[in-house]
Amino acid sequence: MGSNMELLSTGIDGLDYMLGGGIPKRHIVAVVGQYGTGKTTLGLHFVYAGLQNGEKCIILSFDEDEESLFQDAISFGMDFESYAENLEITRLEASEVKESLRKIKSDLPEVIKAMNASRVLVDTISVFEALFDESERYKALSSIRNVLKSAGVTAIITSEADKNNPTSSKYGLLEYICDGAISLKYIRGSELDEVRLGIEVVKMRRVKHSRVPKPYEITDSGIVVFEREEIF
Ligand SMILES: Nc1ncnc2c1ncn2[C@@H]1O[C@H](COP(=O)(O)OP(=O)(O)OP(=O)(O)O)[C@@H](O)[C@H]1O
Ligand SMILES: [Mg+2]
Repeated sequence: MGSNMELLSTGIDGLDYMLGGGIPKRHIVAVVGQYGTGKTTLGLHFVYAGLQNGEKCIILSFDEDEESLFQDAISFGMDFESYAENLEITRLEASEVKESLRKIKSDLPEVIKAMNASRVLVDTISVFEALFDESERYKALSSIRNVLKSAGVTAIITSEADKNNPTSSKYGLLEYICDGAISLKYIRGSELDEVRLGIEVVKMRRVKHSRVPKPYEITDSGIVVFEREEIF
C-alpha cells in the first residue's frame, strides 16, 4: 500500500480494519449484496462518517426517497438532521432513463463542485442498469464512473447481487469498472446452521487488504463487523 495514500473511514470500525484503514481517497467502490444484507446501511455509514468529519456529501438514490433514507439513518442513531446543510439527497426517477443519465452527466459535476462535496453514495445502481439493454449498459455505467472520477470524489455504488453468484453484481459489470468491491452475503454452514451475514473485501486497487470473509450483524447502531471472528 502506498504510504502517501489518504484513507477515508467507512464509519464501520471492523470494515476499516479489514481495509487496512479505510477506502483510499478518490476510489469508486462497489458494494454488492442480496436484498436486506445492509447495502444501504453501509452507504449511510460512509456518508455519516464524512459528515462527522466536516465533509459535504451527496446521495443519489434510485431507490428510497429522501424521507425514507433519513428515517433509516435516524433508526441507526445517525443524526443526519444536524448535518442537513452539508448533505444533498437526490432521488432519481429511474423510469426517466434519458433524464437520469443527462442529469448525472451534466448536473452531478455541477452539484459536486458547487457543494465542494467529497463523498457520493449511489444507491442502488441496479435500478439504473435495468433500464439499458446489454449493449448500452456498460457505456451508461462507465459514464457515471467517469463523472465521479473526474469530480475527484470518493464514492460507494451499491448493487444487487447476481442470483447464482452472490459475490458478483446483478449484471456483472460494476465490479470491473470500480476500484474496489465489497461483498455482503448470507452464509449458511450447513442445513442446520443458522444463516449468518458475511462481509468480504473482494477487490481494492492499490491496497493490501484481507480476503477473509468476516461475520457482521445489523444492529440498532447499524452494521457491526466482527473482524476477529470466523464465520463458522
Ligand atoms: N435495528 C435493526 N436491528 C437489526 N436489524 C436491522 C435493524 N434495522 C434494519 N435491520 C436489518 O437490515 C435490513 C435492511 O438493511 P438495508 O436496507 O441496508 O439493506 P439493503 O441491502 O439496502 O436492502 P435492499 O436490497 O432492500 O435495498 C433489514 O432487512 C433488517 O434485516
Ligand atoms: Mg437498500
